[in-house]
Amino acid sequence: MSAKKTIQYIRQYKWGNIFAMIRNNYRDAKICTDNFNNKLVVITGATSGIGLVTAHKYASMGANLLCVNRSIEKSEKLKQDIETTYGVVCNYIIADLTSLEESFKVANELNILTKPIDVLIHNAGVFLTKREITPEGFEKVLAIHYLSSFVINFTLMDKLKSQQKARIIMVGSEGHRFAAWGLNINDLNWERHRYSGLVSYGSAKLAQLLSMLVFADYFKNTGVTINTMHPGAVKSESGKTNGWLYKWYKKNVIDRTLKTADCSADALYYLGVSPEIEGESGNFYNLTTLEEPAPPALDKDVALELWQKTLEMTGLSTKN
Ligand SMILES: NC(=O)c1ccc[n+]([C@@H]2O[C@H](COP(=O)([O-])OP(=O)(O)OC[C@H]3O[C@@H](n4cnc5c(N)ncnc54)[C@H](OP(=O)(O)O)[C@@H]3O)[C@@H](O)[C@H]2O)c1
Repeated sequence: MSAKKTIQYIRQYKWGNIFAMIRNNYRDAKICTDNFNNKLVVITGATSGIGLVTAHKYASMGANLLCVNRSIEKSEKLKQDIETTYGVVCNYIIADLTSLEESFKVANELNILTKPIDVLIHNAGVFLTKREITPEGFEKVLAIHYLSSFVINFTLMDKLKSQQKARIIMVGSEGHRFAAWGLNINDLNWERHRYSGLVSYGSAKLAQLLSMLVFADYFKNTGVTINTMHPGAVKSESGKTNGWLYKWYKKNVIDRTLKTADCSADALYYLGVSPEIEGESGNFYNLTTLEEPAPPALDKDVALELWQKTLEMTGLSTKN
């Protein structure tokens, strides 16, 4: 981030938005009671936390599921639970979404589906307190929250447009506000900046929000929408690979303040199905309440720069 950008963001910060966020954190998700019979919903990371509860919610309303998970055992259990409980189809693709190669494999498998994808939910994610680098050379939090969802959305653009109707929902976070001074666009892998779990997580979620601005333009007037939502502060398995101190703090302090993930699933269902938000795109929701994200997430110049950079990082620039 440059000093010029920092000054720009400081000028643009609105305290009113922070107070609105605090108020919205106490609001319930809007509920959609319409069924979703025989529709196809793709969910990444459906084996625990928010993704798992969301998978049950959609299946309970009649949707068939295609889940993208990393564990075969958990996926088999999920498939059996969902199919016997709700009588819908629950298939899965196994992939490590920190890997670009595997994200491309998923994207290509989704791209050749003959059925339309009605809702695509990018949910898989991790929170790390220490910097980890993938074998492909990317910082892990960036890879899973941002690069993976970018690759899948980008690859699916033509398929989704040809369907003339689809909703993409990215599970983002109010944590994008931790990247208060913007993205280190020239150091996305945290090689030259001090790594902090909160700021790297916030940066990856910020990058996701910036990509949404550009995707929303590409999808304009096509019937495809793309939105990002904060799923609430809810109980999940998040942070389970971090050290003992973090885990102790999470169990004894953070978890005591968290709600169950039912509100996240209700919100993800509403955003995926409700006719009340038909056509709404490029928005950030706190559960189902529309919010203005932090100024760095509205910076179209950085969004376009990041878009180009991402095409190069992922090799997509040479694939097209
Ligand atoms: N919980 C909150 O309060 C909160 C707040 C804001 C945003 N979020 C966001 O919500 C999303 C879901 O998180 P959660 O809190 O529900 O955490 P979680 O319980 O840890 O669930 C994460 C899911 O992602 C999967 N996953 C992790 N690494 C993966 C990889 N390399 N490849 C494929 N799948 C992978 C996990 O699979 P396994 O079951 O195999 O581990 C799990 O299914 C994340 O994007 C997170 O940033 C959560």
